[in-house]
Amino acid sequence: VIPTLIACAIAYFVCGIPFGMLIARSQGVDVRHTGSGNIGATNVGRSVGAWAAGLTLLLDAGKGWLCTGLATWAFSSFFAEAKALAPGQPFDWALTCVYAACVLGHVFSPYLGFHGGKGISVGFGAALGLDPRIAFGLLAVFLVFALPTRFVSLGSSCAAVSLPIWTAVFGYTPIAVLPMVIVAACVVWAHRENIRKLAHHEEKRFSFHHDEGK
Ligand code: G3P
Repeated sequence: VIPTLIACAIAYFVCGIPFGMLIARSQGVDVRHTGSGNIGATNVGRSVGAWAAGLTLLLDAGKGWLCTGLATWAFSSFFAEAKALAPGQPFDWALTCVYAACVLGHVFSPYLGFHGGKGISVGFGAALGLDPRIAFGLLAVFLVFALPTRFVSLGSSCAAVSLPIWTAVFGYTPIAVLPMVIVAACVVWAHRENIRKLAHHEEKRFSFHHDEGK
């Protein structure tokens, strides 16, 4: 339990770094006051441009991947019972807790007064570090809903709902699925304004900054 708590604390503080906001700020844009007001890659793309969105996606996904990847490596190197961390084994919850800490660090960033982003890029990256099967499951759901509609938030919300489902499908224990249910609920909650707009046909379809009247 103690190593898990330490890993969660590290993941929370590392994944709290708001790369999107920092990248946009370097271009003189405050993303919290443009577009959707979100600090994620989508809004950075909307407010700054494609390269800034790509960099935000890379760094936000990268911080998640680094944390779950390092935790997996550290736990399996230092725990005598490394096998117990595998899906369906007694300690598989340790790594899904670290996964949850990554996403919650980004959504409730300690550097932004416990406000933050919507957890999509970091959630994808952290899934890659945890279990690539889950990451590809999330990506598939995201693409199925986001590509034909160009509603990024629709793809994101559906992918979030699918997170605990993939985790269960891939054989994790119910106790390990629980942090994923909490993550899904927080990510959907972070998208509440998008969902309200989708329901009222007010959500904007995605386009990059340079597409908009330049
Ligand atoms: O990754 C966040 C995305 O799902 C929605 O972003 O800026 O359209 O609220 P945004």
